[in-house]
Amino acid sequence: MEKQIFRIAIDGPAGAGKSTIARMAAGKLGFIYVDTGAMYRAIALFCLRQGILPKDEEAVSLAVKEAQITISHVGGEQRIMLNGEDVSGQIRTEEVGNTASTVSAYPAVRAHLLGLQRNLAAGASVIMDGRDIGTCVLPDAETKIFLTASPSVRAMRRFKELKEKGIMCNLQEIEQDIIERDQRDTSRAAAPLKQAEDAVLVDGSDMTIDQVVNAIMDAAISHGLKVK
Ligand code: DC
Repeated sequence: MEKQIFRIAIDGPAGAGKSTIARMAAGKLGFIYVDTGAMYRAIALFCLRQGILPKDEEAVSLAVKEAQITISHVGGEQRIMLNGEDVSGQIRTEEVGNTASTVSAYPAVRAHLLGLQRNLAAGASVIMDGRDIGTCVLPDAETKIFLTASPSVRAMRRFKELKEKGIMCNLQEIEQDIIERDQRDTSRAAAPLKQAEDAVLVDGSDMTIDQVVNAIMDAAISHGLKVK
């Protein structure tokens, strides 16, 4: 019997819980989890290290050609390599996240990563999360989810996360940051964040992680995913 290839695209704004949910669902299903935000973050880190101003589209577009991004999976975890160096930990700062939001608006940056993203989904069952997976990267994905939550819920989750790591932070500033990031991600011309027409909308504001994971599994099953 031929192996079933099934692709689940999860898009949504920053802090909606996409990576936690996608990682859990991928673990349950035995799918490969692909975090595309990490790729934009690696490009952002490269620019910051090179001293390139994120707002300088020409310089970023030129520099991106020197940034070779590769992905490997160790024990189900995605590791992201920038020119051969594992930068999986270093990309998780607010500065890198905000820079990623700026440089991801540039068509040259998006074009640089598109092939890599599609290759990772070629011939394998994946759960891929990002902003444009259902609309641009995998328009034929069997299941598309648009996962969102209110800005205040997302800010509170981020606040708790940072506090647990012992990082000083201010809830209002975090919420403001989230609103600005949403604005940048949805208003850019190149592959903006938006719900694909055929995506299932999941508002996780008042849902537990397990409830969201189950909602995604149910959507996939209703689209033909066979689970043992
Ligand atoms: O999901 P994240 O916070 O790690 O993503 C960082 C930034 O990368 C986000 O603000 C927008 C950009 N991004 C994108 O433009 N397209 C994607 N598919 C994933 C992320």
